[in-house]
Amino acid sequence: MSQDLHSDIERLVLSEEEIATIVCDMGAKITHDYAGKKLTLVAVLKGATPFMADLMRKIDLPLSIDFMEVSSYGSGTTSSGVVRILKDLNTNIEGKDIVLVEDLLDTGNTLAYLKKILTKRNPASLEIATFLNKEVPNRAKDVQPKYIGADAPNEFLVGYGFDYDELYRNLPYVGILKKSCYE
Ligand code: PRP
Repeated sequence: MSQDLHSDIERLVLSEEEIATIVCDMGAKITHDYAGKKLTLVAVLKGATPFMADLMRKIDLPLSIDFMEVSSYGSGTTSSGVVRILKDLNTNIEGKDIVLVEDLLDTGNTLAYLKKILTKRNPASLEIATFLNKEVPNRAKDVQPKYIGADAPNEFLVGYGFDYDELYRNLPYVGILKKSCYE
């Protein structure tokens, strides 16, 4: 890693302006769909934090927010979708209209697990909003995002919440890291 954050980036994938358009459009859709409902946005830490912060300000409705943090048990069990809860919700979601806010939907295992445990708490509804969506042929069937910001390129991304070794999440854009940073 160099001293200058930006010089580690090989190529821009989504500019600040493109991100703003994506977030604005999704915020307008959610505003339309959830008028009169009891909306709670639940962000999945940590990658979704910039997206959550931007999206909530583009939803012109009363809403509450909450956070969960999970981690996979390890590469051997990732495909089974078993994840460990590091931080649970602080609020009761019974009767609430929940939108799970994610930065990236990949295999869908994380959200399949979250959906399963949150559904048992009897929310009025439970939908998924993901900033980026990866094309995955054998994704868990019950993980169909209602809101997708953009398709994710099949490359290792950093910025706007995406990290490499916990760094680069604070880049205001999404980019591809120079190979020299991790080889
Ligand atoms: C990423 C992302 C999703 C998950 C998606 O989180 O934020 O939570 O992976 O993968 P899946 O669809 O294959 O389950 P990560 O574990 O990198 O944690 P982070 O958000 O703290 O960076």
